[in-house]
Amino acid sequence: MQFAPRLQNVETSAIRELFKLLGRPGIISFAGGFPDPALFDVEGIRTASEWVLRHSPGPVLQYGATEGYPPLREGIARFMQAKGATVAADGLIVTTGSQQALDLIGKTMISPGDKVIVEAPTFLATIQCFRLYGAQLIGAPVDADGVRVDVLEKLILEHRPKLVYLIPTFGNPSGATLSLERRLRVLELAARTQTLVVEDDPYGELYFGAPPPPSLLALSGQVDASREWLAHCGSFSKILSPGLRVGWLIAGPELLAMATMCKQFSDAHTSNLSQAIAAHYLTLNRLDATLAVVRSTYARRALVMAECLRATAGEAISFEQPQGGMFFWARLTDGSDASAFAKRAIDKLVAFVPGAPFFASDPDLCALRLSFATADEAKIRDGIARLASAL
Ligand SMILES: Cc1ncc(COP(=O)(O)O)c(C=O)c1O
Repeated sequence: MQFAPRLQNVETSAIRELFKLLGRPGIISFAGGFPDPALFDVEGIRTASEWVLRHSPGPVLQYGATEGYPPLREGIARFMQAKGATVAADGLIVTTGSQQALDLIGKTMISPGDKVIVEAPTFLATIQCFRLYGAQLIGAPVDADGVRVDVLEKLILEHRPKLVYLIPTFGNPSGATLSLERRLRVLELAARTQTLVVEDDPYGELYFGAPPPPSLLALSGQVDASREWLAHCGSFSKILSPGLRVGWLIAGPELLAMATMCKQFSDAHTSNLSQAIAAHYLTLNRLDATLAVVRSTYARRALVMAECLRATAGEAISFEQPQGGMFFWARLTDGSDASAFAKRAIDKLVAFVPGAPFFASDPDLCALRLSFATADEAKIRDGIARLASAL
């Protein structure tokens, strides 16, 4: 077979290889970015499913508009407005997960050789997806307050990238949240340098204490001309259900029209049934209560994970306490290799993801990502004890 040359830019991730080992009986996994299925609002989703199949079986089982199921576009616009963003239903399209929104951005914006700035570290699937379109990725460092905007500015001026991709709130894998001050500077930079900034925000609702600063999208009204240089990807995956595969893209009319055209000849439209279920679910007024449980459960798990790491691994593993999201981004302080540690950990029946694949270049080999979302507290205690025994 002669495959397309673009495939030479990507490879099956080390993480996928690791996931094959996760089926071992008795393994405790901190590896995936999966929400805990025990927290899915099954009753609400069942109610919504029954309602849509009873009241509008024709439309929801039929082909639909590429832009999305109209009641859901309305529902997402209201959801975003409640978080301070000014968005109309026709200012967004529904996508098959936010992963598809990222793919559509890659497809519409990136030509081979284009430079794209991403956080170092960033979401692995975005690295792979943008590389498939031939992007030359440049990493901007992240600290506890998110991407270093001073460095980002230098990189933008030096490389004139096609776009900048950021996960400003509870980043995957960094767990970091961009401060309010830096958010405003990012918007000012986007407008001044006329650089498209893509905000990926699947985790913003998963805060443990005070809510995070408003999204770049919500803040764009405060910075002249920044909105036209901003695209925003959202998702119900981490707050409702990833299996529904419902996400969205908010962007200016030109980019939205191009993305819609590409979606048309990709999957035609996102499952109408899923969209209708999500749309009706939003009208049931259950999301706030569901989110309250998810937030408090993850908050507790994050505390337990931190306590256990301190008690069993002591100084050997350093980390910042995340204020939301699903991940601890940690480091082996003796400078040793986290992939070798991951292999020893698997032998002790506990899994995590080594950090290196999350870097577009110059990986930090000592870094690792631990998810506290999927395992319950007892499993977290047990799993971290196993992890410490593999040090
Ligand atoms: C940062 C980030 N963006 C996007 C996604 C894709 O999510 P989905 O396609 O399920 O909406 C994920 C999933 O883990 C993620 O972590």
